[in-house]
Amino acid sequence: MQAEALRRLRELCPTVSVGVLTADLMNLERELAVIENEGVKLLHLDVMDGCFCPMMTVGPPIIKGIRTSLLKDVHLMIDEPVSKIPDYVAAGADIITVHVESTRHIHRAVQQLGGMKNVNDASRGVLRAVALNPGTPLETLVPLLPEIEMVVLLAINPGWSGQKLRPDFCERVLSLKRMLHEAERPEVLVTVDGGVTRDNIGMVSGFGADLIVTGSAVFDGKAVAENARFMLEAVRTV
Ligand code: DX5
Ligand code: ZN
Repeated sequence: MQAEALRRLRELCPTVSVGVLTADLMNLERELAVIENEGVKLLHLDVMDGCFCPMMTVGPPIIKGIRTSLLKDVHLMIDEPVSKIPDYVAAGADIITVHVESTRHIHRAVQQLGGMKNVNDASRGVLRAVALNPGTPLETLVPLLPEIEMVVLLAINPGWSGQKLRPDFCERVLSLKRMLHEAERPEVLVTVDGGVTRDNIGMVSGFGADLIVTGSAVFDGKAVAENARFMLEAVRTV
């Protein structure tokens, strides 16, 4: 089921997934229309529970309530997500990212997602992504690679928008690419999340990231349309 969804997403790559934490939430509909109008296709929704990371953000009802044609890229930063995943799928997630550090049962989380229907389009399934914090070895991914469509490398420690990209992210992207090649899973998408700015997006993209999450660099409270255009253009021209 996920193969078709992966094929369609790959066609859009390289591209950006825009995070809304710093958007004008009182005018979210208008904010989303602005980025969509610039050609953004993915909306990055950071779910934080105040346990896995200090902040609390949104849960399934709010995600469900966001009516948009953008793909919902749901990044779960919550403790023990296994029992909660069905609610995020029901809320319309097109991609669900689970952190290996957040659960004793990362394989079960991935396995569970594999059998679930995408409520936006039953033929597509929900794309399965696994995220790693900067301190987590890449090797933890090896047993999961046959059953996932995307790996998300955090270039910051999760919790806040606007942090500085860790310089070791480039080495991790290159090692991950090598690992995917050796595992004969080169189609798995590589995403970089956190600390991406106008100044470094070209460099991040140059290391081979397929999807780049960008939050505060787009929703800066000033030039949202121009920022979205700039970020999209930057990944397309690498
Ligand atoms: C960090 C989140 C990121 C972050 C991105 O915990 O996973 O998605 O909000 O925001 P910027 O692009 O501002 O670093
Ligand atoms: Zn995120």
